[in-house]
Amino acid sequence: MSDNVPAPPLARGWQPRHVAIVMDGNGRWAQQRSLPRTAGHREGAKAVRRVVEACVERGIAVLTLFAFSSENWRRPRREIEILMNLFLTTLRSEIRRLDAANVCLRFIGDHHVFSSTLQDYMSKAEKRTMQNTGLRLVIAANYGGRWDIAQAARQAAADISVGRLRVDDLTPEVLHRYTCLADLPELDLFIRTGGEQRISNFLLWQLAYAELYFSERLWPDYDASDLEAACAAFASRQRRFGQTGEQVVQGSHA
Ligand code: FPP
Repeated sequence: MSDNVPAPPLARGWQPRHVAIVMDGNGRWAQQRSLPRTAGHREGAKAVRRVVEACVERGIAVLTLFAFSSENWRRPRREIEILMNLFLTTLRSEIRRLDAANVCLRFIGDHHVFSSTLQDYMSKAEKRTMQNTGLRLVIAANYGGRWDIAQAARQAAADISVGRLRVDDLTPEVLHRYTCLADLPELDLFIRTGGEQRISNFLLWQLAYAELYFSERLWPDYDASDLEAACAAFASRQRRFGQTGEQVVQGSHA
């Protein structure tokens, strides 16, 4: 079996262990109601709470949310400011509830550009919840899939330069260890809301064997029943990881 092929394949009927979501449609939700786009983001924060609760209830191991991409800096300055404020206020208001629900919070992305207040609060929230053993909630902020691969390559190169790693040993499996989510279960299910069918530079490396699911629902309207529908679609798919359908049915990994 090749290096970076996850094994063993999950059979039909399994629920995803790791779900990632591109929460799209906040702006359109607001525009449909003649509200400013930022009202859509505020409503989107409520959907985050609903979906986190639903994941806790379902016993999903990891939920990774795309909160702010490395390309979102191209948005109007005012919208960015309001989004940053919303992250901080949501973190402040939710951290106690998340901790009580045994959620372990982690942020991925290039955070040095955020205000020191936000960075401090992010690391405090991580520290406060790091011993929790329930849902691992990963918030991707100023994250890009290409950035993740580049930072992994940079770390590997640094290890090569000090003799900790040999160039010939740099296989996909080894590079994987330097990527952001390497210590977590493989990504099983990628969901994008809002009707667009794009990856938008989210978890490029981790998407290699994920199932893709696109929902028309705008993110502020997304709820537990939508997650349920996505999980049901996931459960009906046959994941082959390069094998034939017959091999998977027979449970053969040869
Ligand atoms: C994409 O919708 C959404 C975002 C860029 C921001 C996501 C932020 C939240 C859901 C708010 C709170 C999140 C956390 C983690 C506290 P869009 O604005 O591109 O929508 P559009 O495509 O309809 O314009």
